[in-house]
Amino acid sequence: MSYGYFDDDAREYVITTPHTPYPWINYLGTEEFFGLISHTGGGYTFCRDALMRRLTRWRYNNVPTDAGGRCYYINDGGDIWSPTWSPVGADLDHFEARHGMSYSSITGERNGIRCEVTFVVPLGATAEIHRVRLTNTTDSARSLQLFSLAEFCLWNAADDSTNYQRNLSLGEVEVEGSAIYHKTEYRERRNHYAVYGVNVPIQGYDTDRESFFGLRSNWAAPDAVVEGKSRDSIASGWAPVGSHQLDIDLAPGEQRDLVFVLGYVENAEDDKWEAPGVINKRKAEALLSRFSTSASVDAALSELKEYWSGLLEATAVSSGDPRLDRMINIWNPYQCMVTFNMSRSASYFESGLGRGMGFRDSAQDLLGFVHLIPERARERILDVAATQLPDGSAYHQYQPLTKRGNESVGGGFNDDPLWLIEGTAAYVRETGDLTILEEIVPFDNDPENAAPLLEHLARSFQHVLANLGPHGLPLIGRADWNDCLNLNAFSTEPGESFQTMETQDGRTAESIFIAGLFVHAGEQYADILEALGMSHGATTARERIVEMTHAVLEHGWDGSWFLRAYDHFGDKVGSAQNDEGQIFIEPQGMCVMAGIGAETSHANQALDSVNARLNSDHGILLLQPAFTRFRVELGEITTYPPGYKENGSVFCHTNPWVMIAATRQGRAEEAYEYWKKIAPAFREEIADRHRTEPYVYAQMIAGRDAPSYGEAKNSWLTGTAAWNWVAITQYIIGVRPELDGLRVEPCLAAEIADLSYVRHCRGAEYRVNIANGPGDGSPKLTVDGLAHEGTLVAYAEPGAVVVVDVVV
Ligand code: BGC
Ligand code: NOJ
Repeated sequence: MSYGYFDDDAREYVITTPHTPYPWINYLGTEEFFGLISHTGGGYTFCRDALMRRLTRWRYNNVPTDAGGRCYYINDGGDIWSPTWSPVGADLDHFEARHGMSYSSITGERNGIRCEVTFVVPLGATAEIHRVRLTNTTDSARSLQLFSLAEFCLWNAADDSTNYQRNLSLGEVEVEGSAIYHKTEYRERRNHYAVYGVNVPIQGYDTDRESFFGLRSNWAAPDAVVEGKSRDSIASGWAPVGSHQLDIDLAPGEQRDLVFVLGYVENAEDDKWEAPGVINKRKAEALLSRFSTSASVDAALSELKEYWSGLLEATAVSSGDPRLDRMINIWNPYQCMVTFNMSRSASYFESGLGRGMGFRDSAQDLLGFVHLIPERARERILDVAATQLPDGSAYHQYQPLTKRGNESVGGGFNDDPLWLIEGTAAYVRETGDLTILEEIVPFDNDPENAAPLLEHLARSFQHVLANLGPHGLPLIGRADWNDCLNLNAFSTEPGESFQTMETQDGRTAESIFIAGLFVHAGEQYADILEALGMSHGATTARERIVEMTHAVLEHGWDGSWFLRAYDHFGDKVGSAQNDEGQIFIEPQGMCVMAGIGAETSHANQALDSVNARLNSDHGILLLQPAFTRFRVELGEITTYPPGYKENGSVFCHTNPWVMIAATRQGRAEEAYEYWKKIAPAFREEIADRHRTEPYVYAQMIAGRDAPSYGEAKNSWLTGTAAWNWVAITQYIIGVRPELDGLRVEPCLAAEIADLSYVRHCRGAEYRVNIANGPGDGSPKLTVDGLAHEGTLVAYAEPGAVVVVDVVV
């Protein structure tokens, strides 16, 4: 069953029915003001921090799932409907939602009235614009009413949904002309308020929710809308909302545009008030007048489109398969940008309350983002590094507003520090900017204790070496990349958090995954030292890497695949001798990616085992057999029913590691097959089964052991976006920046005959044309018409265009 289609020229996904298998959402905003918006207008808005600066309310786990959000009601002579279908849910003669690059536009038509609402957060604005375009498609004059509704959230989204004894007495608003101001807590320590205005005079308004709805009404039939009359209510406590009433006459064929602005304003402490108790509205008025015409919205939209064209044109592929092309040219980089901005904070699966910026998550998100806006990646690296602790370990998360490590989540995930090396190295390779390594960065945000970034990387590397276990393998700590493999937790308390509970001292449990990551990141660290002329340091680092490689091959090999770990008792995890959880994906991907076992048969054996034991119709499973009962010595991983999340789903983040590993071993067909199984554009045809958006990756797809095998969850914010980007562009298409040049080493499946790929890097443009013929797989390069030795193309001057022809 089809719910829509890709419009690649417009860079949009077009949804043609409100009845998708799940709300299919998009993100508005690119800088600091963001909105989550579903195809029926659901979702919410915040500035910078989804927890502490939430402008509008939206209820997770609601019935129906996607109630509330951005509500527009039309009362057409008693016939009530919503142009975005929700919240009224009345049938529409025509429905279309277009999710584009940081904007969405939803159109509904009923009884000859067409209403298109375009939602956009303009560049440089802390506001969401809703342009409502009404068209009378009939040849008779029509009179109707339009009601808007935004439900204000009392800023702190956690408090907003818990602390009613206080909150129901707090709400304050002001109304001036067509602008409604939400100023709860502005009287005390807040210096910000929200404004919701429209660019024409209004016939009425409401700011008190119960006045608008009536106490016993519902989303579909608010009293004010049904009666066609706003109450002009001024909220005092209870639940402040913003609603405008507009009475509109439309001549036959007439089209009218209304521009609503939902904005956020901050005032300086000494400039908060215009008169006692009256907020200073200057900035809000400027914002409203900046977007007071439909032309200003068009201008904002085209500016945004240009911005995205500029970003996306840095890389472009043409392969003959539109599904591949649209993933690379549009949706994968777009998802990388959103994920980079949000980390794991706000999606339809992440509540925006709990998850700050993850240390490892942010460092990995960089991998898919750094080519887009390297300066912002640079800033992020320095922010992340500033939360590292002096011993090289890391807070697991930091809060975006304060940029400080999150005490309540703590640390002890022993893989975390290594991702800082991975992120920094990716940045340096992309930009050639070695000066970042000289930046003085504090430890634990303490300016008294600061050192060059290079020293942070050194401590990341050393942290692993200072924490080796009985087999010379890295101690796992609280967990490694797999947050749920908690070998030192031993939790028996219902509901206790595996992420924050006190754990054993953990001097026994070791992770083969961290060992692989140590080798992978360590090589990059050594390369950086080399580039800085510190060859002694590089040599020493490489000695440690060799030792680690030996330790893995000696103690981390199970016979046909890499072991996962040793537990608290020194027993094997992820071994054929276990009854469940015999093989895990993470060490197979990471160790082979790191080159461990490439010279022996181990690497290929590990990949064979993945293919034989973990491959499924919907991607590569995290482990097999899934755990069927709780095991206190393994932790959260065994809390999930078989086939979900870390207990044997297709945890998509890990699949690209195997793809990269496969290309390393020249297994082109396998790599591409794995990608197609999880790539959303390829899953569009099974949208019913997949359920989440067909344009972005999901964190997980239920595994073979789950009743809902093949069903995706946790779409949008996942390391899957960045790693798939790396796998497909850098290893399958095979064009990747290295320190000394652009590596061009395609590893393409036979079904891709010819592929051309444009890659901008360090100011120059590389036009790579790949002819993928049958052969021994080793690529032959011609650079600007001349035969070229090897696969490394030296970086050209900024502005240069380099043509690389490759025959594979
Ligand atoms: C999830 C993990 C997540 C962790 C951290 C667990 O419940 O299964 O995927 O990383 O929580 O919040
Ligand atoms: C999601 C977390 O955000 C990520 O950091 C972690 O690696 C995976 N879950 C696996 O547990």
